[in-house]
Amino acid sequence: MDLEDATRVNICELGYLIVGTTDLGRWHDFGAQVLGAQVLPGTEDTVRLKIDDRASRLIVRRAAEDALASSGWMVEGREQFQAAVRELESAKVELRRGSASECTVRAVTEFVTFQDPSGQVHEIAWGPISDFVPFRSPIDVSGFVTGALGLGHVVATAVEHFDATAEFMTRVCGFSLSDILHLPIPGLPKPARVYFYHCNNPRQHSYALAELPGPATCNHVLLQVANLDDVGRGYDRAASKGVRLVTTLGRHVNDEMFSFYMKSPGGFDIEYGYGGKTIGDWSRNVVFETTRGSHWGHIHLPQGNT
Ligand SMILES: [Fe+2]
Repeated sequence: MDLEDATRVNICELGYLIVGTTDLGRWHDFGAQVLGAQVLPGTEDTVRLKIDDRASRLIVRRAAEDALASSGWMVEGREQFQAAVRELESAKVELRRGSASECTVRAVTEFVTFQDPSGQVHEIAWGPISDFVPFRSPIDVSGFVTGALGLGHVVATAVEHFDATAEFMTRVCGFSLSDILHLPIPGLPKPARVYFYHCNNPRQHSYALAELPGPATCNHVLLQVANLDDVGRGYDRAASKGVRLVTTLGRHVNDEMFSFYMKSPGGFDIEYGYGGKTIGDWSRNVVFETTRGSHWGHIHLPQGNT
């Protein structure tokens, strides 16, 4: 480890997500009956979704709007956390330390929270607290691919502050570029930029920033299931339970994920996928640019399609 690595923010995984909702009941049903997550006992203001042996990976809480509230990024331990805090403070990032009760909700030892230049909220935490109770899907999803790869990925949008956010996420938060997509959007004069980033694990991307029209927000969250049939059955469940399907099935060119997109009760989409690419040696990765997101499929469906 060189001196720069010892002092920079060194995120090792997307650990958890905090989701705000106006309707906890919809998340309860969507989480259990569409995603196949375990709904754990929460409080009257919280639904906790368990997808692996962590306490919970998605924490849904009552709020004034349906939106992703924050992304929880993990570092390996206390020293890495302290180094991250120092780095963020030296970059003049306004930090707030999480309270003991907030740590309990997230099942982490310590965290800080802050905004990126587009106003989206991130948290850096260490020390996941787990009872290691094995995951058991209520509808027999065979499993979610998490572990060292983290819970999946988050794709955020920003237009006005796209460049500042991209700079912040790399220079301050330590993400590294995996690839760039120039995505043609009907009605836009030029393709939208989508920058895909990895952190310190083999998942091809854990975060991406897309220059898509509209307010800065979360575009989608990926959850990766353990086999191809889990994706197909998820597609069937979404269609049969009135969940809006956003795209058809398809396979992405960058992380090779076989997946589809559906609208969650959180306003953002859930990409439900299988077979994501991993990269064991990032020093040998060549950043590439693409002009299409998928080898095939992922065709956007008209709104109202179920
Ligand atoms: Fe994705």
